[in-house]
Amino acid sequence: MAANDKQKLIVFDTTLRDGEQSPGVTLNTDEKIEIARQLSRLGVDVIEAGFPVASPGDFNAVQRIAREVGPLMEGRDGLQPMVICGLARSVRHDIQTAFDAVRDAPRHRIHVFLATSDIHLEHKLKITREQCTQRIAEMVGFAKSLCADIEFSPEDAGRSDPAFLCEALAVAIEAGATTLNIPDTVGYNTPQEYGALIAHLRANTRGAERVVFSTHCHNDLGLATANTLAGISSGARQVEVTINGIGERAGNTSLEEVVMNVHTHPDAYPVFHTINTRLFYSTSRMVEDLSGMAVQANKAIVGRNAFLHESGIHQDGVLKNKQTYEIIRPEDVGVTTGNLALGKHSGRHAFKTKLEELGYGGAALTDAQFQAAFARFKQLADSKKTGVTDGDMHALVADVRS
Ligand code: KIV
Ligand code: ZN
Repeated sequence: MAANDKQKLIVFDTTLRDGEQSPGVTLNTDEKIEIARQLSRLGVDVIEAGFPVASPGDFNAVQRIAREVGPLMEGRDGLQPMVICGLARSVRHDIQTAFDAVRDAPRHRIHVFLATSDIHLEHKLKITREQCTQRIAEMVGFAKSLCADIEFSPEDAGRSDPAFLCEALAVAIEAGATTLNIPDTVGYNTPQEYGALIAHLRANTRGAERVVFSTHCHNDLGLATANTLAGISSGARQVEVTINGIGERAGNTSLEEVVMNVHTHPDAYPVFHTINTRLFYSTSRMVEDLSGMAVQANKAIVGRNAFLHESGIHQDGVLKNKQTYEIIRPEDVGVTTGNLALGKHSGRHAFKTKLEELGYGGAALTDAQFQAAFARFKQLADSKKTGVTDGDMHALVADVRS
């Protein structure tokens, strides 16, 4: 696809709302503001700053983000101010409270949701489909009377009857919704199903051409990123994501994974992004520290091992040409540390390179000392579970030189 036929991908970050719903995670207001500032510098287009009706603390945090972070333009050259969004159930008091929290941001949005699957209507809400569409009309209409920018989400869309979903979404559009978000709330869909659902809704909902369709995928089956990308291919232009993929249960779609897929395969998707990917690693570490949710070492893009090579064959390859085993340049996502992990699979080439990095290049070791050091390194690596550290290397050198 020609570059100028592409549309901008709207990145909606919900780290501070769905992400904060991760079991065990609570962020105080100052921590939320710090994350919100970083998301603004990252170039995120919309942040869901919280669920203002949930508690006075949540209201206060969303209001301070709207006032203090909403106007910030640092790192946002060529972008508009970030939209600050507050979540609300389809309840008048929730909607009014969400609006009061976000209204002072230069750009603000209310996000209203109501479940549409029969399982939620029958067992959770105890209302009929007719009552559901009636409530959508009333509550989206009320939100619209307060704010121009309205997002509506049919919760559990992934398990809703598509025909009823089209009807519910048409009602939301008529009442003033400008973005329709399609949550796979329980991470149940396959990429084929989710992509087909977005295509079906865009083709069969009255007024669909007037709104932006958005993805919101959960990771219960490990498919959140794949489903989100399938949604983009089917015409979704907003993605709802979190840093490190944190969120309820197995989490939400990870922001960095979706953006780096679009970045790495510019011809595969009909969109372009405006995110500063070089801030990914530092943003990931910030959210890890403040949320207390450790990032798994082998997590794509931001895991500690994501750019480390341990086997001798791989190390030899990347030392000759990085492209042999790297599809992303580590510096493009803000990773600046070395890419060699010394362990029992490492070979002479990597061992020598590491010695040089540590200042033992050239004639620092005789040939015999080098061979002895390498033999001891292999013995040590065999006995250690955590890999050989720089400290171990210095000790090895001292040993063979003594
Ligand atoms: O997963 C979900 O359905 C949600 C909605 C509130 C958008 O988080
Ligand atoms: Zn969610």
